[in-house]
Amino acid sequence: MGKTITVHYDEKPLYNITIERDFGKLRQVLEEVALTGRKACIVTDSHVGAHYAEEVQAIVSQTASYVDTFTFPAGEASKTLDVIADLYEHLIQKHFDRKDFLIALGGGVVGDMTGYAAATYLRGIKVIQVPTSLLAMVDSSIGGKTGVDFRGYKNMVGAFHQPSAVYMNLATLQTLTEEQYYSGFGEIIKHGLIKDMDYFSLVQQNTEQLCKRDLDALEQVVYGSCEIKRKVVENDPKEQGERALLNFGHTLGHAIEKLKDFQLLHGECVAIGSVAAAFLSKSRGYLAKEEFRLIKDTFQQLRLPVSVKGVKPEDVVRVSKSDKKMNAGQIRFILLESLGHAVMMDDVSDQELLEAVCAVEGDPTC
Ligand code: GLY
Repeated sequence: MGKTITVHYDEKPLYNITIERDFGKLRQVLEEVALTGRKACIVTDSHVGAHYAEEVQAIVSQTASYVDTFTFPAGEASKTLDVIADLYEHLIQKHFDRKDFLIALGGGVVGDMTGYAAATYLRGIKVIQVPTSLLAMVDSSIGGKTGVDFRGYKNMVGAFHQPSAVYMNLATLQTLTEEQYYSGFGEIIKHGLIKDMDYFSLVQQNTEQLCKRDLDALEQVVYGSCEIKRKVVENDPKEQGERALLNFGHTLGHAIEKLKDFQLLHGECVAIGSVAAAFLSKSRGYLAKEEFRLIKDTFQQLRLPVSVKGVKPEDVVRVSKSDKKMNAGQIRFILLESLGHAVMMDDVSDQELLEAVCAVEGDPTC
């Protein structure tokens, strides 16, 4: 049981992604990355910490010379440089040095922040990602993107910093709220749409099992998504090209996320943004009407929203254009050239964007 994926950099093995159903192999993974005899700080949030920090701390203490847990309030509002500064302060007080470790125990916010602190504390220390949300397992814990939000701009400050290991315990998915759980499928469906229709079909055929949080189905789907992400980040670790395809659905999705003041979850906004991007692909004649319908239906089967109320389409376009996914002032937009094949386009007009947002805003006058 269990699966391991090795992520390479410059064709050399860089780190392993371990997919298990408990924390039973965590100690072995920690030993493999030379944590034995070093200090470790588990970074977590108030929700995840309450469920798993004690168990993980007990395992880490079997091999580390010292371990403690730094907990911050759960939620996107914590993803700030102020919280990072508190973490630096904590590490300084506990005399953490360059050979010591951070362990990110939580979802995307915890992973991104811990990664960023690890990238910058003493010019870089090791980080182990222990993602506990579906979204973090299939996306944010892999590939070394780290960062924080800055004055309302999402992930505006950050660094690439690869983890030493990624350890997933699928059983942690059982304690996610319904919204958090289904939000992860925003990225999962996206992976199929941009790269692999066989994977998309696998997800579609298993929706019933996935809604029951069946661990066999989850293992297959998490493994499949991690494999897609592995291939993309190996080819393009620093997003010079192909990796930008992972931003499908994110340009408009991020704008909606911001305009809704982070009331919607990231994966929900990715779902809405993906439907808008698929609409634009249909308008250009790349996708058939039935294919667009299939995309919408699949998001809905996994209980994700495909439209949003209470945002002005003009505002979504304006905010999208202030996002960092720009190239010399021109928005860089990811479209589907066909199902399972995404392409990056620099020639998407404001009018096309507006029409795509209107399609998910449900304004009948558009
Ligand atoms: N979440 C997109 C990426 O890792 O590039």
